[in-house]
Amino acid sequence: MIVKRICVFASGNGSNLQSIVNSTNRGVLKGLASVVLVISDNNNAYALERAKKENIRSICIEDKKFENDKFFNDVILDELYNMSIDIICLAGYLKLINKKIIKKYRGRILNVHPSLLPKFGGKGMYGNYVHEAVVKSGEHISGATVHIVDENYDTGEIILQKKIKIFKNDTSNDVSKKVLGIEHRIYPKAIKKIIKNL
Ligand code: GRF
Repeated sequence: MIVKRICVFASGNGSNLQSIVNSTNRGVLKGLASVVLVISDNNNAYALERAKKENIRSICIEDKKFENDKFFNDVILDELYNMSIDIICLAGYLKLINKKIIKKYRGRILNVHPSLLPKFGGKGMYGNYVHEAVVKSGEHISGATVHIVDENYDTGEIILQKKIKIFKNDTSNDVSKKVLGIEHRIYPKAIKKIIKNL
């Protein structure tokens, strides 16, 4: 079995990046995959620090530094090509993935979303906006979804989902913490699932 080469895209804290890296070192992805590249669009992302600590090549590619979208995406594509990337994992990456990248990596780009899709997905539904909407609507359950990334927001094939219970007095912050814990558990398992079908 050839170890699959993962690139993680992250804009923020990178706790999902960490859980994927940990699972390649001593969890379900051990011997199956390795995170070899981290791409961020935010120079201050803690995800970049985490990558450095783990000795993973990390680069910040900010769209504002490029004359147009094509140049920006070509730099990303070059990096993916040069690093022989097999699988892309979006982990709190806030920019929409370009169609050219999706076409090239069709079925091999995953995202984790902090709700039970198709509920509470779509444009503008990210981070705490999701949990606030969930609590406001009086849901008794929420959860996390790992899905394939296609050209639209949060519509690709669902690979794995797991639920959490919402209690009467839970705030969006409480829900967020519970869901994040679930994300860390299901993301590596979902990656394993798609590796088996590659
Ligand atoms: C997670 O809640 C994920 O569902 C969403 O962004 C958050 C990223 O958290 N897409 P982290 O950067 O992995 O800690």
